[in-house]
Amino acid sequence: MLVLGLETSCDETGVALYDSERGLLADALFSQIDLHRIYGGVVPELASRDHVKRMLPLLRQVLDESGCRAGDIDGIAYTAGPGLVGALLVGASCAQALALAWGIPALGVHHMEGHLLAPMLEQQPPQFPFVALLVSGGHTQLVQVDGIGRYQLLGESLDDAAGEAFDKTAKLLGLGYPGGPEIARLAQDGRPGRFVFPRPMTDRPGLAFSFSGLKTFALNTWQHCQAGGDDGEQSRRDIALAFQQAVVETLTIKCRRALKQTGLKRLVIAGGVSANQALRSALEQMLGELDGQVFYARPRFCTDNGAMIAYAGCQRLLAGQQDGPAIQVHARWPM
Ligand code: KG4
Ligand code: ZN
Repeated sequence: MLVLGLETSCDETGVALYDSERGLLADALFSQIDLHRIYGGVVPELASRDHVKRMLPLLRQVLDESGCRAGDIDGIAYTAGPGLVGALLVGASCAQALALAWGIPALGVHHMEGHLLAPMLEQQPPQFPFVALLVSGGHTQLVQVDGIGRYQLLGESLDDAAGEAFDKTAKLLGLGYPGGPEIARLAQDGRPGRFVFPRPMTDRPGLAFSFSGLKTFALNTWQHCQAGGDDGEQSRRDIALAFQQAVVETLTIKCRRALKQTGLKRLVIAGGVSANQALRSALEQMLGELDGQVFYARPRFCTDNGAMIAYAGCQRLLAGQQDGPAIQVHARWPM
């Protein structure tokens, strides 16, 4: 089954072709980061308009790259939520219009299910069951995954998502958007031990997270540096490192707990923050101690992309699912 995947939930237009027999055939991506950078975050209306502009050229690109014709496509999967409503509507309308024109089924896919299954596109995909840590700009969740569509939420953030905490902390330090890669870059030259940030909610049982306090801690630390005339680049680096270490250690502690609670030894990390090298190393070390294994996607498939939507949609279309012709999207949508 050949499936076209469309991703437009935020600031990346992703279009990909996935074949159930041959794997990923083509994957095109346009990132709007340059468009939003001057505003320090995503401007929804600009995002929607740009998705409209990029969609068809990217579709032509994947057809050219794969050598497929439109008539070869068996189904279309699109991100139906969660995300920015206007942006989601672009992908949903394109998918439904093409499906109607080509006489094939369309199916709305959950964005976080796409992220969750992205490591399946790699050479050595994880086997079910596993624990997944979903860490993106909008979500921080621990999920037990027993198979496609068999997801059990183990714990999630009560306030900010991990990626959101990276973005907000970067902003208050005067760094660019998105903040995750900027903090990670600065942290490389941070001096360990100068600042120690809290590890929120690790002192009590359970798998819930809370990251909003960390940005306040970062703000107070930065203001303290500024008041003392110590507001140079090295202080930024030291704060970036202390912040990143706190997020990474907190996530690692909760992942260890989730593995213990479920008795599983496979951990999948997915979503934008799973591109973070310090997080990958810490989890690899922890899983090494437990004689387990950690799985993640290549960096391009950690952040938003069409390939993960094509893959997730293909699994569901193969299982016989499809949507009616109504164009429906969900800004919020539990997985
Ligand atoms: O999954 P994603 O592309 O979009 C959402 O579904 O939200 O995740 C974007 C988030 C942003 O908050 C970004 O700062 C973060 O992922 N991110 C990172 C890194 N790369 C992206 N955070 C930490 N380290 C990174 N290397
Ligand atoms: Zn995402």
